[in-house]
Amino acid sequence: MELREECDSDIDSWEEVILIYRSALKQISVKLEILNDEFQHVHRYNPIEHIKSRLKTSESIVKKLKKHGYESTIQNMVRYVNDIAGIRVICSFTTDIYRIAEMIANQSDIQVITVKDYIVNPKPSGYKSYHMLITVPVYLSDRIEHAKVEVQIRTVAMDFWASLEHKIHYKFEGNAPEYIKNELIECAKMVSELDEKMRSLNEEVLNISGRNKR
Ligand code: GTP
Ligand code: MG
Repeated sequence: MELREECDSDIDSWEEVILIYRSALKQISVKLEILNDEFQHVHRYNPIEHIKSRLKTSESIVKKLKKHGYESTIQNMVRYVNDIAGIRVICSFTTDIYRIAEMIANQSDIQVITVKDYIVNPKPSGYKSYHMLITVPVYLSDRIEHAKVEVQIRTVAMDFWASLEHKIHYKFEGNAPEYIKNELIECAKMVSELDEKMRSLNEEVLNISGRNKR
């Protein structure tokens, strides 16, 4: 590991920082599970399909700091690397994405730092997802630390697209042939159409079952 760890106290603070980020991921995972369970209880329906979380490796942290011209110190990583703790929430429908985002933002101990809505404004690649940078409190024995967590919320279809695009991007080291990039943009359009069709179909079904209950 390249992060400066010349003395024991540096190793100690690195381990402590990682422990805080890991705990923040646990906190937000439990919060999301509770919200999903409550939603199931009230509406008989789960907005969350599944959740994936990950901690950035020390190598990736160093790479990111270097890319932005910062020295590899623990202070810089905490200040400048916003995605050390990352959680991905996969939903069935686009409407669920905004529901979940709102439920997260409404939690009084969570602070929303930034929101990037790549659903309303997709990336040039075709990438769609809803990103939130939040802080989550971690209760330690002697203090509370607020750790940054990057939350990505997307549909199953958006996730399918993003994982293939990521693999292609990686394979060509960011320089995929133009025709492949165009195909991906085409696929992204199909993903949006599919998401919209599935959403309206689901609404239709809900309306019918609602009518039948009356
Ligand atoms: P990073 O330096 O990549 O973290 O970007 P950023 O700090 O500008 O944040 P942004 O919200 O743009 O993207 C953060 C994360 O979103 C990335 O690490 C990816 O996981 C995902 N992402 C963003 N753009 C794309 C894309 O075009 N394709 C795929 N597959 N994922 C993307
Ligand atoms: Mg990132």
